[in-house]
Amino acid sequence: MTDSETVVPSGSDITDPGLAAEGGRRIEWAGSEMPVLGLIRARFEASKPLEGMRVGACLHVTAETANLMVTLRAAGAEVHLCASNPLSTQDSVAAGLVARGISVYARRGEDNQTYYRHLEMVLATRPHFTMDDGGDLVGELHRRGPEAMGDIRGGTEETTTGVIRLRAMAAAGVLRFPVISVNDAQTKHLFDNRYGTGQSTIDGLIRATNLLLAGRTMVICGFGWCGRGLASRARGMGAQVVVTEVEPVRALEAVMEGYRVMPLAEAAPIADVIITVTGDCNVVDRRHLELVKDGCVIANSGHFNSEINLAALDALSQKVREVRPEVAEHTLPDGRRVFLLAEGRLLNLAAAEGHPAAVMDMSFANQALSLAHMAANWRTLAPGVHEVPPEIDAEVARLKLAALGVAIDQLTDEQVRYLSSWEQGTE
Ligand code: ADE
Repeated sequence: MTDSETVVPSGSDITDPGLAAEGGRRIEWAGSEMPVLGLIRARFEASKPLEGMRVGACLHVTAETANLMVTLRAAGAEVHLCASNPLSTQDSVAAGLVARGISVYARRGEDNQTYYRHLEMVLATRPHFTMDDGGDLVGELHRRGPEAMGDIRGGTEETTTGVIRLRAMAAAGVLRFPVISVNDAQTKHLFDNRYGTGQSTIDGLIRATNLLLAGRTMVICGFGWCGRGLASRARGMGAQVVVTEVEPVRALEAVMEGYRVMPLAEAAPIADVIITVTGDCNVVDRRHLELVKDGCVIANSGHFNSEINLAALDALSQKVREVRPEVAEHTLPDGRRVFLLAEGRLLNLAAAEGHPAAVMDMSFANQALSLAHMAANWRTLAPGVHEVPPEIDAEVARLKLAALGVAIDQLTDEQVRYLSSWEQGTE
């Protein structure tokens, strides 16, 4: 279908349908970097694993997500999409999707009320399956009580933060349907969280500030997969990287990777840039803000805008002004300036375009295959959090290697026998 043959799905709420042509080009460009998802789409077109199903998706509305939505539609699903963050929507992509007949409820910069109204609009379509990034759709569904569950059968979750929330719901005995934790697939977190967040966060930092990173002290709060990726990319740009952690094993790993590790209270006074990627709240707290030097840049690349104590920063600030798009200069009473990026929301999506399509290819291949698996098996999956089946993980890796033109060795029969035997030891 071309962009001129616009079919606006009823109920969509986007900023500007006139941006459809630009959005369409962005969707195509991203699609050309997503060969695995493209192959799955071709398979789904033939097998229709989601025929007649309604999917409610709450994801970052990017060109990569658009390719996933088109894939779900090719599988036979009716898809309704809202944003998983008020600042991550690419308005042209939203328009491009609407022009392709997929309903979208998302406007970049929407306020909190609109954000939740958009979730509501997706839930009003009575989805059979949810696809979440951060758990807001599932959380909202559960807050409405059992009668609001409608036709729900199961869901998938994209991100670490969402999986943590789902596990908390399951532990409290309140999660009412099965959800597959896509984040836990190896072909998701080892690549998306590490290389995706690593690159896209640096991209957001540079687009927002145009800072030279070489020689700067960059403090990375959190050394999970995202923190690891970000620290390595920051080091690659010549920054002096300091890592802060609360888990001893991760902290030790950071030390042995050659980073300086210290409490944030020690790191704050020497930081040129502080970036949080922990998934926790108030990691940069008032006591740290009181210590930072003049000109310190503070940003977050974790899912929620809870990692920097924004209320404390506001309370400490005598003056706030926007000095560049996504850069707010906060002047403290003693004259020090703190530059807060992207309102403390995820820097990589708010100030850049999120992870590159080539890495989202694997994440969203896992999403598509996991949803098809859920659609085929939801009756036998108990309410709770379920792993991505290992066959899916291995299939995504195989397809990505094939797309990259990389061949690998195979075990010989002798090696297979050797690995499954125990009799043979030192010879
Ligand atoms: N999360 C991080 N990067 C993303 C992207 N490009 N699209 C959708 N979700 C993302």
